[in-house]
Amino acid sequence: MSKLYINGGKRLFGELTVHGAKNSVLPILAATILCGDECVIHNCPYLSDVDSSIKILEHLGCRCHREGHTLIVDTSNITRCDIPDELMQEMRSSIVWLGAIAGRLGKARLSSPGGCELGPRPIDIHLAALRELGLRIDEDHGYIDCRVIKRLRGNSLHLTFPSVGATENIMLAAVFAQGKTVIHNAAKEPEIIDLQNFLNRAGARVSGAGSDTVVIEGVASLHGAEHSVISDRIVTATYMAAAAVTGGEVVLKKTVPGHLLSVISVFREMGCMVETSGNDIKLISPSELCRFINVQTLVYPGFPTDAGPLVVAAASVANGTSMFVENIFESRYKYIGELRRLGAKIKTANRVAVIDGVSELSGAKVKSTDLRGGAALVIAGLAANGRTEIDRVSHIDRGYEDIEENLRCLGADIKRK
Ligand code: EPZ
Repeated sequence: MSKLYINGGKRLFGELTVHGAKNSVLPILAATILCGDECVIHNCPYLSDVDSSIKILEHLGCRCHREGHTLIVDTSNITRCDIPDELMQEMRSSIVWLGAIAGRLGKARLSSPGGCELGPRPIDIHLAALRELGLRIDEDHGYIDCRVIKRLRGNSLHLTFPSVGATENIMLAAVFAQGKTVIHNAAKEPEIIDLQNFLNRAGARVSGAGSDTVVIEGVASLHGAEHSVISDRIVTATYMAAAAVTGGEVVLKKTVPGHLLSVISVFREMGCMVETSGNDIKLISPSELCRFINVQTLVYPGFPTDAGPLVVAAASVANGTSMFVENIFESRYKYIGELRRLGAKIKTANRVAVIDGVSELSGAKVKSTDLRGGAALVIAGLAANGRTEIDRVSHIDRGYEDIEENLRCLGADIKRK
């Protein structure tokens, strides 16, 4: 198990290109199952969650090969409809394969995704909606067995919560359903739009992504498609936070500033100068950050839950007291205990975190609790005086390509051993 070693206090300076979005490429890789053809996916990042998706595709009988950041996937030949426990457990979002496999084969067998570091990850919204499309779903002894009685049929669905994964799962299952499916109260995240664009390139008829009503007109079949994945807005926010806490100045390239408006406004509130031009975001940090008054996570376009740990880490070294509320996940504060080991002064009560900024953090031995919590520890380690050692870096590798290389290019003193 590798560790990251950071000698903090170095100002970050320079340019960095942001890689493709994990939360976009994962559902798109599942969607390739529906094509039954060769698909070419550009801007595909080197992430362990992508590796897990490739393992699932190959387990199902598909062929994958990488040419740099381009992944070629051939799903012509599918030999199975199940995803074994060990593959399901590797990645929380594997449930999105249910809609794709059942949509293509009329049956699917997946192990129930367990809980994860963010608390229980229920899939009730997914299952209720898929049943309304005509999927018979039996849950027994930790497995989900699905079977289409005749053909999936379009329906008008209303999600009780605009779940990102459930919206994606329904889109995939509805591609070949008979007639029209309308998803009301759909998630509006940019990754949903990217999935719609990929599906339509492959011959599907999906519209409305990015709004709260997504419409899928069933078609008979899809074909291969070539697609470039959008930039990762949370990775962008991560490098913004890293520059912000080190008094740095960075230009992030190949971003989509329009996907980060709520995040940009928080860094501006903290005293950073943030300029956007085309696909570039330039952030110049003040010598001392000031606190944000009150940030609450909401569904898109509200402040994203995944950027929560990043700004909490930044607020830890800001001047003043910041209040943060996590409204999306039940327990997303496990990383805060590790931030405290670095000297952060944070109190939590249920969904509320109150951060009393300190003038400096001190390096310590800490361990990642989850993907974005791990990123928060990197950010805090970059700001801290002295040496920080971060264990369980595999959490971070799920969503960040070459994090230590990228930070080193910006002037950080960081190594992986
Ligand atoms: C996606 O997770 C992202 N993952 C998450 O990113 C992100 O935090 C989340 O959306 C919210 O934006 C991927 O896209 C792979 P949800 P997902 O379904 O689909 C509850 C990261 O760090 N819920 O919108 O699982 C659920 O418990 C990850 O990259 C139900 O109650 O998120 C949570 O409280 C972390 N029943 C809330 O909805 C359901 O059936 C949001 O979940 C489904 C969800």
